[in-house]
Amino acid sequence: MVSDQQRWNDRYDDATASTTVSPPAALLEMAQFLPSTGRAVDLAGGLGDTALWLAQRGLDATLVEVSDVACTIADERARLSELELDTVHHDLTTESIPGDNWDVITCFHYLDRPVLRSISDSLRTGGIALVGIATITNLERHERPSARFLLEPNELPELLDGLEVIMHTEDWAPWGYHEARVAARKPR
Ligand SMILES: C[S@@+](CC[C@H](N)C(=O)[O-])C[C@H]1O[C@@H](n2cnc3c(N)ncnc32)[C@H](O)[C@@H]1O
Repeated sequence: MVSDQQRWNDRYDDATASTTVSPPAALLEMAQFLPSTGRAVDLAGGLGDTALWLAQRGLDATLVEVSDVACTIADERARLSELELDTVHHDLTTESIPGDNWDVITCFHYLDRPVLRSISDSLRTGGIALVGIATITNLERHERPSARFLLEPNELPELLDGLEVIMHTEDWAPWGYHEARVAARKPR
């Protein structure tokens, strides 16, 4: 069986270290909930668009990724843009979220239910989680991602155990996908 690391390394093999940072639209939609300083980690963050964007906003940003190819490219992008970025090569299916007491945890377009359930444990009190993942309804207009990577309707807030939901939207987003977006805070 092909591992997550191998599959994603193959996908990222031809990627280049662009200095143009394009964070997910869902993150931009929820940016109002972000603090201006603090430690932020982006889970399964690909080539680093979310983490680099958080760094541009003044947060101490960390990228967690199973693909070492993606980590190398994200490091290079940070260097070229003169941004500080920590990259952690890490498999979230076998190891828990690295670090603790994060001020911000973000996760976009990556569905791993145990990981989402554990976000609360890794946030500091008052910390913010921003999550955006497509739902099963997305299959009505798009063949991919396949069902195993898609949320059930209204599932996302339930997965964010222990967090207080401050925004929950689930609809055909302006960018064309049926996505659940949740901003949530760890209660004091
Ligand atoms: C669909 S991409 C989303 C990338 C980015 N979050 C975004 O929104 O553009 C899914 C990402 O999850 C990463 N990934 C897949 N399995 C993983 C795992 N077990 N641990 C950590 N990252 C993983 C992949 O390498 C890939 O970058």
